[in-house]
Amino acid sequence: MEHIIVTRPRPGVMLVTLNRPRSLNALNKALLIELAGTLNEAGADADVRAVVLTGDERSFSAGADIKEMPESGIPPFAQADRLKSWKVIERFPKPLVAAVNGYALGGGCELTQLCDIVIAGENARFGTPEIKIAAFAGDGGTQRIPRAVGKARTMMMMLTGEPIDAVTALAWGLAVEVVPVEKTVDRALEIAAAIAEKSPLAAQMVKAEILMSFEKPLDESLSLERKMLMWQSEDHQEGINAFVEKRAPRFTGR
Ligand code: HXC
Repeated sequence: MEHIIVTRPRPGVMLVTLNRPRSLNALNKALLIELAGTLNEAGADADVRAVVLTGDERSFSAGADIKEMPESGIPPFAQADRLKSWKVIERFPKPLVAAVNGYALGGGCELTQLCDIVIAGENARFGTPEIKIAAFAGDGGTQRIPRAVGKARTMMMMLTGEPIDAVTALAWGLAVEVVPVEKTVDRALEIAAAIAEKSPLAAQMVKAEILMSFEKPLDESLSLERKMLMWQSEDHQEGINAFVEKRAPRFTGR
């Protein structure tokens, strides 16, 4: 792959590093397609139980590749393969942890909000500067960011285009922890490894249920939650047995 690097630094954990440093990891179409392909593979691979997504110390991602815009403007951003790639990221069923250093702007900020847990380095800057090029956060940002931080803060971010720093992102709920820059990836890997020790079935169910709370009316999601409660698995039985027998559980994903 040309634009991302994939490694497996810990048991059950895949690390995906965006690798277009000269463009501050701008999300060109090719990168999005590679990322979606990698997540599709990770989703189907039982040895991957959680994925960490990161950039480099200067930039997580500066957003959509503006240099892909000049010839035909924004419309190519609605091309089917590009939209399909975002859909794959959005629907990735396994836990996705973002390790964010530096810029997380525009599509880069939207990408962090498709991750389930966001760890921010002290130099992280989250922003939606699209208005500066007379565009808007059209890869889900205008809908997801208000759900995360509320209307007034989103208006401030999207109408001024000015980024917020890591501590503000933490206070507003765009990130869950702020750590020194050199620790961001390690901390994200540590969290992913802790998730990877759990039952992969349960982790996916937790993720699906929490996302459901943003997507469905409450009566519908409560009823679905109740139905999911009926679900049984070998892992569930193993968890109970291990507790009773005072030993560590061995989850197999069945
Ligand atoms: C393409 C980008 C880029 C981007 C930076 N670069 N952001 N290339 N697309 N989004 C490139 C620069 O052109 C430059 O390349 C190199 O990365 C380093 O950037 P500099 O500007 O020299 O760095 P710096 O002065 O530190 O400023 C960093 C920055 C600035 C504040 C992040 O680059 C910036 O404002 N970038 C644009 C961010 C943005 O508007 N993102 C939202 C995109 S729109 P060269 O070759 O010149 O050295 C979007 C959604 C659109 O995401 C709607 C979709 C539906």
